Amino acid sequence: MGEKIDYVFKVVLIGDSAVGKSQILARFARNEFSLDSKATIGVEFQTRTLIIDRKNVKAQIWDTAGQERYRAVTTAYYRGAFGALLIYDITKRQTFDHIPRWLEELRSHADKNIVIMLVGNKSDLDDKRAVSVEDAKEFAQKEGLFFLETSAMEATNVEPSFMTVLTEIF
Ligand code: GTP
Ligand code: MG
Repeated sequence: MGEKIDYVFKVVLIGDSAVGKSQILARFARNEFSLDSKATIGVEFQTRTLIIDRKNVKAQIWDTAGQERYRAVTTAYYRGAFGALLIYDITKRQTFDHIPRWLEELRSHADKNIVIMLVGNKSDLDDKRAVSVEDAKEFAQKEGLFFLETSAMEATNVEPSFMTVLTEIF
């Protein structure tokens, strides 16, 4: 097995504070999860190398603060990104209502061919659901986005969310 990296794909995570961006990343990159996750300040990234079509693909996943005051320079964050996970919390309607704003920011700063996955996180909290699957599906379809609900806590659909984006980029 060679260590050669054939491709590096940058993917960015965006969405309101506390929707679970950092925990989705922790789940994907290290298979970890924490309930007392601290708000992200600035920008962090983690990588994971995967094999897609017999090529070594290094996924470089960037995570930033949902809170405006902690956010890093927008232009640099989106530069060179091939994919994006646009994340809301299924139990917080407001985080879904803000999705069009995030999408607008993404579309104005990122490459026009960027692959976007709309992600409704915290599917383990179905009893507190405030956003229906139908509403999210309809929005995703209208905007030409992929869509999945995930649970970083239960490790549901985290892998498929990233794999769909990475495979589509590839
Ligand atoms: P900012 O860094 O402020 O933008 O927030 P964030 O989007 O990175 O949120 P973070 O990953 O820090 O998670 C916020 C809270 O939600 C933490 O208490 C997490 O443990 C919790 N959380 C994240 N994902 C899930 C999930 O799938 N299910 C449940 N029940 N809680 C989750
Ligand atoms: Mg965070």
